[in-house]
Amino acid sequence: MIPASALQAQPIGVFDSGIGGLTVVRALTRRLPHENIVYFGDTARVPYGPKSPQVVREYAAQDVAFLMGHHVKMVVIACNTVSAVALDVVQKLSRVPVVGVIQPGAVAAVAASTKKRIGIIGTQATVNSEAYAHVIRACASDVQLFSRACPLFVPLAEEGWIDHPVTRLVAKEYLFPLTLEKIDTLILGCTHYPVLRAAIESAVGPGVGLVDSGEATAIEVERVLDAHALRNRSTDRPHLQFFVSDIPAKFAEVGERFLGQSMGRVRRAPIEGGGVAPLG
Ligand code: DGL
Repeated sequence: MIPASALQAQPIGVFDSGIGGLTVVRALTRRLPHENIVYFGDTARVPYGPKSPQVVREYAAQDVAFLMGHHVKMVVIACNTVSAVALDVVQKLSRVPVVGVIQPGAVAAVAASTKKRIGIIGTQATVNSEAYAHVIRACASDVQLFSRACPLFVPLAEEGWIDHPVTRLVAKEYLFPLTLEKIDTLILGCTHYPVLRAAIESAVGPGVGLVDSGEATAIEVERVLDAHALRNRSTDRPHLQFFVSDIPAKFAEVGERFLGQSMGRVRRAPIEGGGVAPLG
C-alpha cells in the first residue's frame, strides 16, 4: 500500500484538446500552489469542438490513458467539450477521482445570477450537448438559458489576437443576440475564452458577470482533494510537466499567454494507435 504522503505528492492529471486547458492549469496553480501537475494537450487533433461526440469520446479515452500512465491522483478534464460529451468515458477509465469543468461552472453561474437569465457560450459540441443546461436546470428550474457557439474565438485566442479590432468585432457579432435577451451572467464555457475576457466583457457590457469555468473548477478540485485526503502536504515548489501530441509553431509563446507564467520544457507525446506514447 502506498503511504498517504506519497499518494498526496502524486500529480494531478489535467488534459485538454490542446493548449487552451492551460487556463485551467493557471487557475489550479493559483488556488493550489503546491500541487504537482501533469498536463496533456492533444494539439495534434485540436479542435475537438466541431467533431462528433463519438470521435471526442474516443480521443478522451486515449488522453486519459496517457494520464493514468503518469500515476496521477486525480483527473481534471480542462476541456469543456470533453466534459460535455465524454465525462462518463473518463470516469469509467480513471481509477482516481475525476473533475470536469461543466458542473463547477454551471453551479457558479447559478450562484452568481441575480436575474436568473444566464448565457452560455462554448464550442458547437458543448452547446449542442446542452450539458451546462442540464446541470443548471437540475439545481434551479426557474432559470432562463440562452446559448451560442462561438467557434472563431478559439483560433483568435491561439493567434494571440487578444486586443484586436477583429476579435472585438467577432465578439460583438456573437454576443449581441445574448445581450438582447438581457442576460445578467455569462458562462465562459470553453478553455480559450478567459484569454479573450476583455473583448467579451466589452461586447456584453458592464451589467453582465462572467463566470470562468476554470476558476470554478479549481475550487471544486480543492474540495475533492480535501474530501479524499489527497492534498499535497509538501510546500516545495511544485513540479509542472507539460506534454502535447504535436508542438506547433508559436506553442511556447501562446502557451505562456494561456498559463500566465513561463512553461519551461514541453515534451511531445505523439498518439500511437489506441494510446499515447511519450517520446521524452
Ligand atoms: N478545449 C476546447 C473546449 O474547452 C476548445 C478547443 C477545441 O475545440 O478543441 O471546449
